[in-house]
Order: sequence, then C-alpha cells, then structure tokens
Amino acid sequence: MKHDTIAVIDFGGQYAHLIATKVRRGGVFAEIRQPEDPIDAFRGYKGIIISGSPSLASQGEDSEYTKEIYDLDVPIIGFCFGHQEIAKHYGGVVEHGGRQWGRADLQIIPGQRLFKGLGPVEPVWMSHYDSVVDVGPEFMEIGFTKASDGLPEHRFAAIASDSLRRYGLQFHPEVDSTVHGDDMIANFVLDICGCTPSWSMEGFAERQIAAIREHVGDRSVFLLASGGVDSTVAAVLLGEALGPDRLSLLHIDNGLMRKNESAQVLEMFRDLGLDGNLHFVDASDMFLEALGQETDPERKRRIIGDTFVRVFQEEAGRLGIENHLLGQGTIYPDTIETGSTKRSDTIKTHHNRVPIIEQMIAEGGVVEPLADLYKVEVRELGERLGISHEALWRHPFPGPGLGVRLLCGDGRPDAIPDAVVPQVEELASSFGLHALALPIRSVGVKADLRAYEHPIMLSGDVPWDRLLDAASAITAEIPGINRCIWNLAPTHPDGARPLAATMTRVRLDLLREADHMVMAGLERHGLYEKVWQCPTVMVPVEMEGGEGELIVVRPIHSQRAMTAAPVELPTELLSELRDSIMALPGVSGIALDITSKPPGTIEWE
Ligand code: XMP
Repeated sequence: MKHDTIAVIDFGGQYAHLIATKVRRGGVFAEIRQPEDPIDAFRGYKGIIISGSPSLASQGEDSEYTKEIYDLDVPIIGFCFGHQEIAKHYGGVVEHGGRQWGRADLQIIPGQRLFKGLGPVEPVWMSHYDSVVDVGPEFMEIGFTKASDGLPEHRFAAIASDSLRRYGLQFHPEVDSTVHGDDMIANFVLDICGCTPSWSMEGFAERQIAAIREHVGDRSVFLLASGGVDSTVAAVLLGEALGPDRLSLLHIDNGLMRKNESAQVLEMFRDLGLDGNLHFVDASDMFLEALGQETDPERKRRIIGDTFVRVFQEEAGRLGIENHLLGQGTIYPDTIETGSTKRSDTIKTHHNRVPIIEQMIAEGGVVEPLADLYKVEVRELGERLGISHEALWRHPFPGPGLGVRLLCGDGRPDAIPDAVVPQVEELASSFGLHALALPIRSVGVKADLRAYEHPIMLSGDVPWDRLLDAASAITAEIPGINRCIWNLAPTHPDGARPLAATMTRVRLDLLREADHMVMAGLERHGLYEKVWQCPTVMVPVEMEGGEGELIVVRPIHSQRAMTAAPVELPTELLSELRDSIMALPGVSGIALDITSKPPGTIEWE
C-alpha cells in the first residue's frame, strides 16, 4: 500500500463511513471493508477499526464474520457493536440492557495511551441497547460513565488490552458530539498503530473534476438545484469540470418550500453567475396532487422523490435537453440514512435515494460529485471554490422541504400504552416537570435502527441542563419514546386530541408563516449562524383549551447531521415566538424540541 492505511469494517452502523472520513481528516488513508471479506483482504493494514451495527451482539446477530482478523498482529479497536464483539471474543460478557442515547460523561482511568492528552472526564456520544458487563482476563476497564440524576452508571464504557493491542469504546469517538473523539482516533491511528500521516484533502476538487469529466464523457448534466448548500456547491464544481454550456440547472418549486424561497434561490443563482442555463418550474400542483391523502412518513418521502424525477424528465423533454445525466447534490448522510449500504437500516428514504433514482444510478445515469462528503466538508470545498459565505452558510433544508415537517394523520389516537403513562409522569415529576404523551409518532434513530415512536411534552420552569437530563432519562428508560418537547405555552395542557390532516395548501401556508417567524427571530437575535439548523414542525394534535395544531421548533447544533444536540434559545426570543405563533389562527400550542440525535432525528419524519 502506498500510504499507511487503516481498515474500517462496516457492520452497517450509521457512522461506519464517518470513521473512515475522520481517519482521513487526520492525514491517514482509510478504506472500508466488509465483515465477510476473506482474511487476505485484511492484510497490509496498519490497524483495524470495527464499526457499530444495527445488530445486537448480545443475541449473536452478525457473529458470522472473518474472525481470523483477531489473529493478525495489528492493533484493533471497536466502537459500539465493535467494542462488544471484541469484549466477547476475548472472554467478556455482553448483555441486552443499559441503553443510552446521546451525551454521557466518560470518567477516564488515568495513564491510558488511547486517552493521551485528554481530561479526567470527557463528554461522549452514545447510541446502544447492549452493554459489556464483564471483560476477559487480559482486558481492563479504562473508562466508565457515572450515575447522575435519573441516569444509571455504566461500567466498561472503554476497555483495553495493551498486551494484545485490542481496544473497545462503547461510545462513538467518530461523531462530532464526542468533543475530543478526533484525539482518541488520532491516538489509536498515530500512536498505537504507528501510522505516518501522508494523505490530504487538498486534491479533492481536482480529483473530482477529473472523475466528473471521465464519467460524463461528451454528454451534458441537468442538475436539480434546490438552492441548498449541497446542490449549489455541486453546480459550481460541475461547471468547473464541464464548462457552462454542458451544465443546465433546474430549480423546482415543489410547493413545500419556505416563504418566498424560490424567488430568493433564483436571485442567489444569478448572483453566483449560475443563471446561464437556469430553468425554473412551479410544480406545486403536481406535488400536492401526488401527495393527496397520504399520511405515512415513508410513503410521503417516496412520493416526493418520485415526483421530482417525473418533473425533471418532463422538463428535460420540454426543453429538448438530450443525452444528459441527472445531477444531484447528494451527500453521504442521504445514502446511509436510506439504508443503502449492505447492513444498514433505513432510517428515512431521502428524496434523492428513492428506488427509481437508485435504478438510474445503477445504469450510470446520475452524477453526484459530493456523495462521499458531509456538510462540513461540502462547505469547506465551497470555500475553496470561492462561493460566497452567505450561500454556504444557509441552513440545510431537506429536499422534501416542509413535506417532512408537516405531519399528517387520520385523526385516530395513536397513544402509548396506558400502563406506561404513570411511569412517564413519575420520572418527569422527579425532575420537577409535568408530562403529557402525545397521541402521534415521529421518526428517530436508536442504536443504528429506525425508531417510530411517541413524543412526550414536558411542562415546567426548570433550568436548561435539567430539562435535557429529563429528556435523556425519559427516552432511555421508557421504551416507545424517542422525543421530548418542552411546552412554551403558559399552561400545562391536560390532554391533546389528534386531528385528521393531510398535505393541504392551507396547512402549508400556516407552517410557512410559523417557520418564517422562527427564522426571522433567529436573524433578529443574531443567532442564525450559531444555530446549525432549525426545523419548524406542525403536528396535527389539538392541545386542550386551544383550537388548532401544535407547532414545534427544533433548534440544533451539528456539523455533519449524523448527531445533533438541542440549542438553548434566549428567553426573550422564546417569549416572542410564543406570542406571535400562538396568535396565528389554527395554532393551539407551541413547544421546543429538546431531544438529541439519537434518539430523535433532526426532522420529525
Ligand atoms: P435527520 O432528520 O435524518 O436529517 O436527522 C439529517 C439531515 O438531512 C436532512 N434531510 C434531508 N436532506 N433530502 C435531503 O436533501 C432528504 O430527503 C432529507 N431528509 C433529511 C435534514 O434536514 C438534516 O439536515
């Protein structure tokens, strides 16, 4: 191998590809391997990292893999599922239980190579159902998480055998929310494996431009350009590779955009000089007609993705654009969340990964120059390409737009079991909060698996950190709950009634208005760039004492969208939002989403 290289074994965890990205960002090349690759495929690496998985190590799931890797004389580390597999292989015990989602504080046993340069307590990010409860004779515990209010202690969160050069971390050092995760990975790769950093991201644009030219040949590209960061960077990169004459842009108003968004997007493209072959179509009728009475989140996503392709093909025909490839600004989270790697679970079908597009990809008809990147890398590349700060730092906005933020339902209650209610109330009251389970569900992700579960509305005036602890405890300890929201209305409602609701223009306009108030509020308080993304969601439940639906605001911090943490907003802004949004006719409640990812995803569907 030309460079010192690390192998990442992809067991289908949400972050397997991210591990390889993080190793490369540290200057060392990394390659993804499959668990059943023959042992010869694992020779020549300086070290091996075993990823997380949607499978359960405690149940022996996915235990058929090339175990001869453990005979290789190179360091091996496992994260989450990988950690549990290593513990088991060397005589430890893994049990189903001790689940944790989101932040935990790792207490570090001093003097460990893996944690060189780090403090005694490190914030780390968890997402697991199974836990290591004992280790074999050659291993020692090098970190654990401590009990705090309502949160249990977890032993063996980090284990090591320096003699065997085998290590395991229950948490995910590869996600940005593990604050010093990059240092832990560097300690493994550089110090323990002894790799010399020799790889760089510098040449990415040049390599991609060459790859685009080879793939496209003498054809042209017709790019779906939403105006979001990804498709805008993809447009500039494709323009550099192919020249303006062989690139056309299509901006579609799908009726699910923010207030005045299409007009702003077209202006932005003009400012960027990308309006040479820019086409616009208002297809909102077609999208709304296709969505019809559909209420299921995955089916809604499919319909939106399919309609994009239909509109694209019709427009290409109408404009006489022939011999073209479909261009998309797809980034890696779109692929992994759609379950497009061998073992990964489908968390949600991203609009650019519906089956018809997968088929076009298989036939070589799609060009996606950013498909291996995450949002931070896309922005970095955009800066190198000279795109304006304003265009690059727009909040991410999903292709299906408000389609995944306007929840629909048939009006029938979909409630948590009666037996669970007192448990939720008791746990919430131990934090000084009232709890109300909402009779609907939203999408989340737990231990690399899709979760479609209930949100709990919490009411009460308690400090922010305590609110977050309450949300962690409730989602970790009570099955069937993947989200907590904090009531901003003046009184705690005693009940919530589900409403029958579909994708209508009237509802979309109301959500657009509320969303506009939230975005304007963030701008007014100078918070737009401090908050990474802030979906506003409309939920068809009527809070007791009011008339209309519930609005939920979800401000988060993230870098790569694979994990996210809720952001505290100033009290003044919260009061302004409460007063203005509650005054909108058709709104009966307002709340702030206080859930991390995992267990909640950023969007509700
Ligand atoms: P979740 O909700 O899965 O979202 O935590 C992760 C990031 O992806 C965005 N998102 C999408 N983007 N097409 C897109 O282009 C989609 O279908 C889609 N679904 C979610 C979401 O806004 C967040 O930034």
